[in-house]
Amino acid sequence: MDFIPENKKFKNSPETNLEIGISAKPFLKWAGGKGQLLNTFLKYYPEELITKKISNYYEPFVGGGAVFFDIAQRFDIQSAFLFDINEELILTYRVVQKDVFKLIDFLEHYKKEYNDLNDKEQSDFFYKLRQDFNQQRDKINFNRYSESWIFRAAQTIFLNKTCFNGLFRFNSKGGFNVPKGRYKNPKILDVQNLLKVSKLLSIADIKKADFKEVEKKIKHEAFVYYDPPYRPISKTSSFTSYSKNGFTDSDQIELAAMFQRLHLKGVKQMLSNSDPKNNNEDDNFFDELYKSHRIFRVPARRMINSNATRRNAINEIVVTNYLVN
Ligand SMILES: C[S@@+](CC[C@H](N)C(=O)[O-])C[C@H]1O[C@@H](n2cnc3c(N)ncnc32)[C@H](O)[C@@H]1O
Repeated sequence: MDFIPENKKFKNSPETNLEIGISAKPFLKWAGGKGQLLNTFLKYYPEELITKKISNYYEPFVGGGAVFFDIAQRFDIQSAFLFDINEELILTYRVVQKDVFKLIDFLEHYKKEYNDLNDKEQSDFFYKLRQDFNQQRDKINFNRYSESWIFRAAQTIFLNKTCFNGLFRFNSKGGFNVPKGRYKNPKILDVQNLLKVSKLLSIADIKKADFKEVEKKIKHEAFVYYDPPYRPISKTSSFTSYSKNGFTDSDQIELAAMFQRLHLKGVKQMLSNSDPKNNNEDDNFFDELYKSHRIFRVPARRMINSNATRRNAINEIVVTNYLVN
């Protein structure tokens, strides 16, 4: 178990027991999820979260939300702003927040139906559902909450739990084309977790938005955590103007500029990214971008390399604009 500083133990438990107090976790598998780094991150959160001087939380790249769920259960957060550019993700969050019981009914139905099928039938079920999901996409108004969102959110959770490696990826046209995974007992429905997550989301303003929106929304006494898409690994430290995930070096630069502006307003901020030095010692991209702030390198146990000798050498960078004890 990782060391947890005395002053960063759970609000619900005086004991350093990982099981007590904290149990709600992401309801979707999400690429770049921070579940493995939560204990490491504890050391880097601002003191003001513990002393309750900060009660507004912002996460503009929320993804699976591992950090939000963790923070919301440890500290006294009064309001949260959770944004992401992915509209299917945001739709699903909003449904979990607003209509969790109806969502559970749909998922219960999927779970029963799917588990009773043999391999071949499960495969047919998955691909039929995937086809429906893609065909319905044009009919969904992602800007206005409606009952049809509930069914879509159930389909999203089903596909996320049963697809290959939890690779929940959309192609450039917004289609979902990941094949079926080979899970014996996929956890299509986790009632307890969905209920807990829904409760935690009750304080959140959840929106499909570009990260820049945060700047317009920011209030005083705020903490922002950024987990932007990883910078693609490049052999040189040269400027990358194109990236497959749509988040370019110029986006990283814009983000750093916003980080600086919010810093000048006194907003506490923390950012993480993969360390480009994992692959190229001379790559100082983030060191340059955040040179006025504190940059830490923390070990990340991500198995992104099949070469066993390199598996241990993967770092993540953590940037803060405040002192860390
Ligand atoms: C590394 S993931 C976040 C992972 C998350 N912290 C977790 O634990 O699951 C990055 C997220 O940024 C989102 N994203 C990409 N470009 C964005 C943009 N311009 N504005 C806001 N979100 C964006 C992606 O949809 C993705 O969910």
